[in-house]
Amino acid sequence: MELQVEQLCKSYRRKEALREVSFTLRKGIYGLLGENGAGKSTLMRLLATVDFPTRGSIRCDGKDIFQMDEEYRSFIGYMPQNYSVYPGFTARDFLEYMGVLKGIPKEKLKSRIDEVLEFVNLSDAAGRKVKTFSGGMKRRIGIAQAIINDPKILILDEPTAGLDPKERIRFSNIISDMGKDKIVLLSTHIVSDIEAIAGGLVVIKKGEILETGNVDALVQKVKGQVWEAVVRQEAYQRLRKERSVIHLKQMGKEVQVRFVGEKYADENCPSTEMNLVEPTLEDYYIFAGGREEMGGGFS
Ligand SMILES: Nc1ncnc2c1ncn2[C@@H]1O[C@H](COP(=O)(O)OP(=O)(O)OP(=O)(O)O)[C@@H](O)[C@H]1O
Ligand SMILES: [Mg+2]
Repeated sequence: MELQVEQLCKSYRRKEALREVSFTLRKGIYGLLGENGAGKSTLMRLLATVDFPTRGSIRCDGKDIFQMDEEYRSFIGYMPQNYSVYPGFTARDFLEYMGVLKGIPKEKLKSRIDEVLEFVNLSDAAGRKVKTFSGGMKRRIGIAQAIINDPKILILDEPTAGLDPKERIRFSNIISDMGKDKIVLLSTHIVSDIEAIAGGLVVIKKGEILETGNVDALVQKVKGQVWEAVVRQEAYQRLRKERSVIHLKQMGKEVQVRFVGEKYADENCPSTEMNLVEPTLEDYYIFAGGREEMGGGFS
């Protein structure tokens, strides 16, 4: 299966939310990264056919998804970033409702609901009203409804937002299994979540594609450029203007800092000690985003 996005544009009345977005997804797990307002949810709504593009196309195995309509909807699962459930619904009612909408045969529905409730660790809450759920539980019931029809294409808008560390790991495990025979696209701000489960990455910035590729290959791009150092405050002020700083920790008069970029020449070195470290996806992401603003970026 192949999902091909070509020159996709989406404008709201005054706002161009997506501009000439093109990429292709095949079986596997992909992370969609981008800052607030980058256009992630807009892109996902189009992929889920709950909204229409202004221009451009999305094809599934060569067929326009907006023309496939019912056929396409029967094999996609979508969890919106924000969704509302009829207030009186219990978890089980809600899943039954979604299952019927997706055309799951009645005789199979009950066992499938039990299965997905188990998956997202909500079996004990099956009879509770969804409106009484905590934020993390609501997110998990959202994941459950998205996977209920065992979709071939799964689109999850910030599925891990608000999950505690234990549930986050549980979620990663569920999704990792799914990537074997599905296209899974998930958006997040948590770069380490992507690193843990995704093989592919789509980075979007201000409505445009900044980068697409294999996670490991992208991380390798900053190999040999990620440093950790302990520097004085005044040296840090200079460093943060000249390099992409990933994180820092205040330590009295000094700052422990991790940054991406070229090593300083010894005579200009603002640090007593500077160690080359293994790059992570976050290093790459901050560097790619930061460099673009400086007019650089990867070619
Ligand atoms: N219905 C709408 N009408 C007008 N503008 C919209 C609408 N939906 C989104 N936008 C605008 O389009 C841009 C992209 O929004 P989108 O929700 O896709 O971003 P996002 O990457 O999902 O952000 P976040 O990380 O905050 O969820 C934003 O500038 C937003 O204000
Ligand atoms: Mg969003």
